[in-house]
Amino acid sequence: MIGTHTPPPRRTRVLVADDTESIRALFEKLLTSDGYQVVSVVDGVAALEAVRAQHPDVILLDVGMPGIDGIEVCRRLKADAATRLTPVVLVTGLSELPDRIRGIEAGADDFLTKPVHPHELRARVASLSRMKHLTDELDSAEAAFVALALTIEARDPMTKGHCERLAHWAVLLGRGLGLPADDLDALHRGGYLHDVGKVGVPDSVLLKPGPLTDAEFAVMKRHTEIGDSLCAPLQSLRGVRPIIRCHHERLDGSGYPGGLRGDEVPLLAQIVGIVDVYDALTSDRPYRTAIDPDAASRHLLSEVERRKFSKLHVEAFLDSLRLSAVVSG
Ligand SMILES: [Fe+2]
Ligand SMILES: [Fe+2]
Repeated sequence: MIGTHTPPPRRTRVLVADDTESIRALFEKLLTSDGYQVVSVVDGVAALEAVRAQHPDVILLDVGMPGIDGIEVCRRLKADAATRLTPVVLVTGLSELPDRIRGIEAGADDFLTKPVHPHELRARVASLSRMKHLTDELDSAEAAFVALALTIEARDPMTKGHCERLAHWAVLLGRGLGLPADDLDALHRGGYLHDVGKVGVPDSVLLKPGPLTDAEFAVMKRHTEIGDSLCAPLQSLRGVRPIIRCHHERLDGSGYPGGLRGDEVPLLAQIVGIVDVYDALTSDRPYRTAIDPDAASRHLLSEVERRKFSKLHVEAFLDSLRLSAVVSG
């Protein structure tokens, strides 16, 4: 068809890091003949640079390289959110069991033993590049969800910037509570995605300039469950779903959708719940204007008195806010 030229899909790129010339040449020859694009480097430092610059789909690392060895390169790649999902194969000597154990601890996805059998190399790279393409698809599905969440936000001019502020504050509070990196990551994504289920709430309810009737409120409440089931097929959103589902639950059991109580409310959802209320109070809404941060803080503390939020969390949030105001002011 005229005018519908689509570029061919990018060839799968394999990075080979090995200080032995003959092995690099062999891998390059085998993989190139299978249609892969091969980038080869001679040591660990060059491997890390090549990953950053070339975004390979599969990485083959010799364990025994001068400078930074393959296991350390692997450990660094797996510790970095940008490269964590790129499959890494460690190439080890025949009887190097301790290397394998260290490799597993470093997060290696697979191993090849020298001398490497050509069939095994090809099969390993083929299966890992399939896996990489699957995770790439999931990644872009999540990106599509975030775009959806921002579109929903844009439907309502009053909530402009809400998701971004929530992501920021939720991480701030999570950090104040000393939560690990995985939780901070979920809080960041949860900030953006918590209200994604509002895609299922009609404009007549979502944008109503005034208090909702009971029937309308019942429709509005459903955004928690809609969002949760929307995200259910995405493995990568497993850690974010409790936030989407439970950010309106309250410790005294008065929230929705489940009327959960106390510890039944997932910690990350409690955190997003607090910053969601704070943001709602400090932004203009159709039926009232924003209140100042001090009054919003007092309101959160009164919610603690009413056993809706944890005292520890609310105080940590107010401390974090003060601290970030001092730092940025
Ligand atoms: Fe919500
Ligand atoms: Fe919200």
